[in-house]
Amino acid sequence: MKIVYLLLFTLLLQTVSAQTKLTQNINVRHTINLDGRWHYIIDRFETGFRGFQGATADEHGSLSGFFENRQQQQPGELVEYDFERSPTLVVPGDWNSQSDELLFYEGTIWYQRNFYVQPQQGKKYILRFGAVNYEAYVSVNGRRAGTHIGGFTPFEFDVTNLLKSGNNSVVIKVDNTRRKEAVPTDNFDWWNYGGITRDVVLAELPNNYIQDYKIQLAKGDLKTITGYVQMSDSAASQSIRINIPEAGLQTTVITDNSGKAWIHLPVKKLTYWQPENPKLYDAIIAAATDTVTDKIGFRTIEVSGKDILLNGKSIFLRGVCIHAEDPLIPGRPRNTSELQMLLHWAKELDCNFARLAHYPHDENMSRIADSIGLLLWEEVPVYWTIDWTNPDTYNNAQHQLAELITRDKNRASVIIWSIGNETPNNSDREKFMEGLADYVHATDSTRLVSAALLTSGSGNNTITVNDPLGNKLDVASFNEYYGWYTKEKPWEIGKFNFNIGYNKPVIISEVGAGAFGGLHADSTVRFSEEYQESFYKNQLPLISKIDGLRGMTPWILVDFRSPKRLNPTYQQYWNRKGLISETGQKKKAFYVLKHFYEEKAKQP
Ligand code: GCU
Repeated sequence: MKIVYLLLFTLLLQTVSAQTKLTQNINVRHTINLDGRWHYIIDRFETGFRGFQGATADEHGSLSGFFENRQQQQPGELVEYDFERSPTLVVPGDWNSQSDELLFYEGTIWYQRNFYVQPQQGKKYILRFGAVNYEAYVSVNGRRAGTHIGGFTPFEFDVTNLLKSGNNSVVIKVDNTRRKEAVPTDNFDWWNYGGITRDVVLAELPNNYIQDYKIQLAKGDLKTITGYVQMSDSAASQSIRINIPEAGLQTTVITDNSGKAWIHLPVKKLTYWQPENPKLYDAIIAAATDTVTDKIGFRTIEVSGKDILLNGKSIFLRGVCIHAEDPLIPGRPRNTSELQMLLHWAKELDCNFARLAHYPHDENMSRIADSIGLLLWEEVPVYWTIDWTNPDTYNNAQHQLAELITRDKNRASVIIWSIGNETPNNSDREKFMEGLADYVHATDSTRLVSAALLTSGSGNNTITVNDPLGNKLDVASFNEYYGWYTKEKPWEIGKFNFNIGYNKPVIISEVGAGAFGGLHADSTVRFSEEYQESFYKNQLPLISKIDGLRGMTPWILVDFRSPKRLNPTYQQYWNRKGLISETGQKKKAFYVLKHFYEEKAKQP
């Protein structure tokens, strides 16, 4: 049976090629929103995929199995599923938080909904998913649209030839089963929320549309805007006008024979984007058949010795880590107000920076950060012990990076691409991670590359970091939990010093301790707010000893769900290292960090 399953899997994976390149800024195009209530069928035994002689595809790409969305044709006919009469789930939204029977569910769930469209001649129709965790097999009117793996990045399919006039049906098989060879692998400290977790739209585009663009300041150059525009039609000599009216900047660029036009625009006068003044400009890209406007901020980010420079000036990154979860209505954020809540809490902490852990968050997160003035670290879930020697795993990780960078490359707020978290060093891992570092450096030279490294020990009271991967990164970042995961208690960590083996800026990418919100006791009592408060009061002076410390993102802004946190008294499947509890209560440590940042913000 496993062989059959693998054959089916490879067959449908071939459809990955059906995946079209991501359309930049698709949400401002002419779209039909397909969010709302979708029927669902829980299919733990993959009946809809391998029953019925398996979900094979005939030459028209017509799929059998549940993709068919079959209805009983005549009385007495045996059809053992019926989407129409099946219950519904809200999209976008993980399934785990929508019904108690699905809280721990891992496996396949089928989604189906109808939608009405009158396809127009000379138009292209792109079906786009903001994110589906983890594997998605998509069909429209029973015909194959394509597949995608990776739970946190967008993907889209050209369904122009699959649509019919009037009522259409989309069926998706979603499977969030954890696998060793996947990215993330089968062990991680967050809830494995499954489902269609972000917006779904059907975009109607001109036959030849503005498929992609990048408009940013050149690396370390405040005086030149560079980038490109890619048309969907690869014809040469297409003329495209770039206009940034408020800055008095415009230029006309011509496509080469791949339909790509390069931008090189000297800058006269610009208000550079920065957290204190997050200036965004309307950038209008106009081609003969299509026009797109985007809100773009212009800033440079670079390292110089052990310093980080924003627009050429030294900056200290006052940050915090954030998971993509609304603690108040536990589950993946369903709308922008939940995203704004998280980022506003970070602002209340007096942050100018946030680490979006450990996977790409909703694309609106960076757009909100652009507008409220918060710098971002974005990451792909290369987390703990990945299947280092598996080429599919490597391609999967690099593909997720490619999708993330494609999606957010025009966001001024995004300054660091992180290629992973706490990956224990060995030669296979080193090769894997160095490959990713090289890929990101080659793909986007205007941003910094990092990863959350592990410390290599604390002999002689010296916390040492000398992971060879650090040599490939622009910023040396590492996680440390001295005073929580160590025998030393918070009040005993002052004895430590640091030995960090790189001439680079340092970011503490995680440091934190647990506290059950509202539990007050002596500061020696674990999980009391006083213990967490004492932890921060001792950690902040400790890490301030680090030569080249240019930022920190304590773990973590708010308590989050984890299937690995099983203490019945203090955890109940929650990681309690939040500075804010799952009910939105600020813990004592919140104010210790806020005060530290307010002081930091006053320093040059
Ligand atoms: C790790 C890890 C986090 C985890 C945290 C913790 O360092 O990176 O994902 O939640 O520590 O133990 O709380």
